[in-house]
Amino acid sequence: MYILGINAYHADSSAAIFKDGKLIAATEEERFRRVKHWAGFPSMAIEFCLREAGISLEQLDHIAIGRDPYAKLMKKILFLLKNPSGSWNVIADRFSNSKKVSSIENEFALINNSVSASILKKKIHQVEHHRSHLASAFFASPFNEAALLSIDGSGDFTTTMTGIGNGNKITVLNSIDFPHSVGLFYTAFTQWLGFPHYGDEYKLMGLAPYGNPQYVEKLRDVLLFKNDGSFSLNLKYFRSATSGIISYGDDHVPQVASLFSDHLVEKFGLARKKDEPLSQFHKDMAASVQKITEELIFDILESLQKKTGLTNLCVAGGVAQNSVANGKITRNTSFKNIYIPSAGHDAGISMGSALYVYNQILNNQKAEPIYTAYTGSQFSNNEIENYLQSRNIIYEKLDDEDLYAATTHCLVNGGVVGWFNGRAEFGPRALGARSILADPRRADAKDLLNSKIKRRESFRPFAPSILREYVSEYFEVTDDVPFMEKVFPIKKEKQKLIPAVTHVDGTGRLQTVDKKISRRYYELIDNFRKKTGVPILLNTSFNENEPIVNSPAEALECFLRTSMDMLVLENCVITRT
Ligand SMILES: [Fe+2]
Repeated sequence: MYILGINAYHADSSAAIFKDGKLIAATEEERFRRVKHWAGFPSMAIEFCLREAGISLEQLDHIAIGRDPYAKLMKKILFLLKNPSGSWNVIADRFSNSKKVSSIENEFALINNSVSASILKKKIHQVEHHRSHLASAFFASPFNEAALLSIDGSGDFTTTMTGIGNGNKITVLNSIDFPHSVGLFYTAFTQWLGFPHYGDEYKLMGLAPYGNPQYVEKLRDVLLFKNDGSFSLNLKYFRSATSGIISYGDDHVPQVASLFSDHLVEKFGLARKKDEPLSQFHKDMAASVQKITEELIFDILESLQKKTGLTNLCVAGGVAQNSVANGKITRNTSFKNIYIPSAGHDAGISMGSALYVYNQILNNQKAEPIYTAYTGSQFSNNEIENYLQSRNIIYEKLDDEDLYAATTHCLVNGGVVGWFNGRAEFGPRALGARSILADPRRADAKDLLNSKIKRRESFRPFAPSILREYVSEYFEVTDDVPFMEKVFPIKKEKQKLIPAVTHVDGTGRLQTVDKKISRRYYELIDNFRKKTGVPILLNTSFNENEPIVNSPAEALECFLRTSMDMLVLENCVITRT
């Protein structure tokens, strides 16, 4: 049985395909379109998934779409009545999108016009946004029973949902309606700090450790805790938008409307303009926003834990991308084990909606847990060599052992390496398939990377990939973090050994590398360990102000555009001369 899930007409549109509950492929549309957060119909991702599964469109048994325009319809109508034009016009936005959803079978028919739209229509299931998030975490997790949290900006008029997963069923416990949203709270302050783009929230998170959270009390008037695991926003601090919170132009790039009101400016001061310097006050505000957000997440979770009595937890949704908060959950709540999928944000909706149909609707038993994010495009050495020859690029082909040695040699000599290996990752993090690597021991690695490739804000940290056997040696918390979804404190005595991946507060957003899942990446790091004694590499995404590279052509272009020292495409090595 083949099930295709999609996230469409929504930021980070994507597709995922399962055969009998087993994940065959999943990818974001942006990897093909080359536009970050691309938000239209994911036709190229769908074609990729069908190709990987070796089937045609008509062979799909079910199609799951991770949104339901009819969810909370009465609440939406009431909201519209209470908030006439000039208010947050989220309803109009949702209605226009729902029109698109109802004609989605026509979009599918465009992929293969020999398949009739009416036949496809019968196979389509609409799965509400947050149930898709919950399913993306629980049905992919190793747990038979777990408490569940989905938390984001907003989707299908909901911003937060809790539930219980048991076997092949999810039961919803509680949900919070738009516009009361932790995601929108965090985004409003991200904008206020001068980071206006969709997805800029990680910049606030990266800035926070430079500040002192002295404005938390002041923020309690903006984010109102109800102390029962629930919350609301004080809406006077948020601006009425006239064209929806997130809009999508013809270019399918999501744009976020300005969210904060004059009241917020009165209380916290003028917003920082994009190129103004970041003052200590800005850093303190970032620290305060991060701190109160963490407090609220722990409050929601602790109440969920009391209600369910469970110690396993699954989390998804945009706010679940807050790896700093994620890394503190077990130390601040009674939960013991946590699963967060590689695509915890909206791209994961494709995977979640398909899993929801397979388990919840069709009543199949939960399949194997998903520990891999390597579900995207792959290219053989043959394909790569043909491409390089067509471009007259000089390269060397090395067997694995020589390849690891050559890469390690480049890294220990201060080189920056583009590492293209196996299937591309699903989700926002590069995990050793499409990564740029550097020596974590170099104090100047951050400057080196920023000058050679990334040119990003100097306050943002770079992440460590660590062999999983060595986590307890380097980190204060020992846990598997396969998708770089948690930040842990680095042991004091190790911080000076790996300055390039130690953030200003002594933490690191680690990826634990498992030999069974990431064999070649593991062996490369192990080779580096044998040479240097350090089982860690600095890992950042293989891109330069663009979506992560997907094909050898994009990797080569990025290499040629930047000052990277070495490019590894499977077993082919290109060295800058
Ligand atoms: Fe979402």
